Amino acid sequence: MENLYYSEYIELDKILNSQHPKSFKSMDEGNDEMLFIIIHQVYELWFKQMIFELDLVRNIFMRDGKDGINDNSDDMSKVVQKLKRIGKILELINQQVGVLETMTALDFLEFRNVLLPASGFQSKQFRLIEAKMGLKMEQRYKAEYYKHTRRGSLSEADLQEVNRAEGESTLKELIIKWLERMPFFEEEYWMDYKRTTQAESGDKHKFWVDYRIAYQNSLSENEAGRLKEFDKVFFEEGRGDIPPTAMRAALFITIYRNLPIFQMPFELLNALSEIDELLSNWRYRHFLMVRRMIGLRVGTGGTSGAGYLEGTVSQHYAFREITEVATFLIERSKRPSLPRALREKASFNV
Ligand code: HEM
Repeated sequence: MENLYYSEYIELDKILNSQHPKSFKSMDEGNDEMLFIIIHQVYELWFKQMIFELDLVRNIFMRDGKDGINDNSDDMSKVVQKLKRIGKILELINQQVGVLETMTALDFLEFRNVLLPASGFQSKQFRLIEAKMGLKMEQRYKAEYYKHTRRGSLSEADLQEVNRAEGESTLKELIIKWLERMPFFEEEYWMDYKRTTQAESGDKHKFWVDYRIAYQNSLSENEAGRLKEFDKVFFEEGRGDIPPTAMRAALFITIYRNLPIFQMPFELLNALSEIDELLSNWRYRHFLMVRRMIGLRVGTGGTSGAGYLEGTVSQHYAFREITEVATFLIERSKRPSLPRALREKASFNV
């Protein structure tokens, strides 16, 4: 067996010889450009790991082409573990902003001109993360910024790669398919269901008619309009990209997450919200840092700068609909109790 040496194994020479600050006259007379380069490189390495994990998760969902994820294997726990790992990486890279903030605005001005028109805006890997999660070009804040390949934007080749990733099955689309096939509403499980109301059920499942009334009763006077929203989200249009069937599944999992069969699915939904939240934290920290470094000057990538970044914070979420399911929850004690056949199906049977 080859006698592998540490630095060869991790190809350390390549990494440690990839910092070439453009503003330095000599290494012992440097400024913060060294820190600036290293921190971007570290970010890009973590972006690479996040893409790797995202692709593994997507592959699990796409397995076998049709049904994908196998509910009777460790697929679901692998997916949750990998999504939680992405969350941990995001926590770490959020903290890293503080390291760069030890550089002041004046320190940055010493070398800002040498990097023009390069910008983090051209980070292909960052765009790939967003695209693979399910954020579409047209859903972005100032979508026009992303469409051209002028100075400071993505190169033609990078833009094509991002567009390709957007066209593949995104994590969001795969999650929707998975939610849509939730099987628990077959009549065999609901024979002995004891209704909590006498309301007509029409073409809605009797459980949802009862739940809707319990939700209505939970609303305060100034929230009355929410009931209309409930019907729209769960029976008519869905919410954002997510159709009503999948929204109902997400709500059902969230309400009954104490049932053994729903524990992992709930962890999964929770991990998606967590990723969205941590990514949004990063956007916010990055925006604050940018405002501190360059004030209201335009970015090297040609956007309006801090103003643009602030807009992305409130708009660039991939799983907002999942997180906002909380709008439609009711107290535990008010939940309709599930029929015995369904509870048995949803429990561990050892
Ligand atoms: C002095 C520090 C920094 C400044 C002043 C700065 C400035 C900016 C500005 C102004 C933009 C908007 C695009 C533009 O017009 O250029 C931007 C975008 C971006 N920057 Fe930074 N940045 C800094 C550090 C970083 C670091 C350390 C990263 C880590 C990779 C990073 C990643 C990004 C990304 C991914 C975007 C695109 C964000 C989006 O479109 O949602 N930046 N940056």
